[in-house]
Amino acid sequence: MRMDAKIEGAAAAAAGEALSVAGVTVRFDGLAAISGVTLRLAPGEIVGLIGPNGAGKTTLVNVLTGFQKPTEGGLEIDGRSALGWSPAKVRRAGVARSFQAGRLFGKLSVLENAQVAAIAAGLSLRDARARAAEVLDRTGLGGQLGQIAGSLPYTDQRRLDIARALASRPKYVLLDEPAAGMSDSECEDLMRIIRGLPGSFGCGVLLIEHNMHVVMSLSDRLHVLDGGRTIVTGTPAEVQADRAFLTAYLGAEGVE
Ligand SMILES: Nc1ncnc2c1ncn2[C@@H]1O[C@H](COP(=O)(O)OP(=O)(O)O)[C@@H](O)[C@H]1O
Ligand SMILES: [Mg+2]
Repeated sequence: MRMDAKIEGAAAAAAGEALSVAGVTVRFDGLAAISGVTLRLAPGEIVGLIGPNGAGKTTLVNVLTGFQKPTEGGLEIDGRSALGWSPAKVRRAGVARSFQAGRLFGKLSVLENAQVAAIAAGLSLRDARARAAEVLDRTGLGGQLGQIAGSLPYTDQRRLDIARALASRPKYVLLDEPAAGMSDSECEDLMRIIRGLPGSFGCGVLLIEHNMHVVMSLSDRLHVLDGGRTIVTGTPAEVQADRAFLTAYLGAEGVE
């Protein structure tokens, strides 16, 4: 099962399937939040998106999910232009994102939370229940199906948030700082889950994460933004050896 999904992901990537932006610029009141950014995420891979606060990471995620229309540039899903599509249409085309824990339905059970997400993605009641149970099992919440979401510990709420994104059967899933506020051991648990996503679900993962250990360990490739511009792309090893990356993170003094 795991290998099948992984092979499917590789085949999809080989067929040119991807979520991508090309030359994207977003201006707010004339100020560019991102400038000329080009990024491609294929099914089956994990791409880390990093950069200091204010670098433009969330703005880019908003473009990729239809929440923000770019001032310039293109957005494509599997070769089709998705410019101007609503967030709902982008999601139906296979792009899901995680939200903060506050977006959960606090009074519904863990299972119901995931089921609602699957129904919103167009699954029948019965299929939604099966899919919800499956993703909850994979995200380590299989033993808490009946628990009320609002009563879960913080880290389990973060996991449920990821499970909800997966319940819509996405081809691409965008995780915005999933490890925020987690202890080292909780991070290790989360890393196991994220590492398993391409194999278990065949999806591509865009991982925005401040925790360098997490993002360097998990990512096949990294995309580094600073001041809204791409400063480096490459494997974690390539990026960690790059002067522009070191300057952005350590300041010029850290490099000299
Ligand atoms: N809705 C908005 N209106 C005006 N400026 C914004 C808006 N969203 C983001 N920005 C600005 O765009 C820049 C990038 O922000 P953001 O994408 O949130 O960065 P990051 O997620 O990397 O911290 C920042 O300077 C921020 O203040
Ligand atoms: Mg952000």
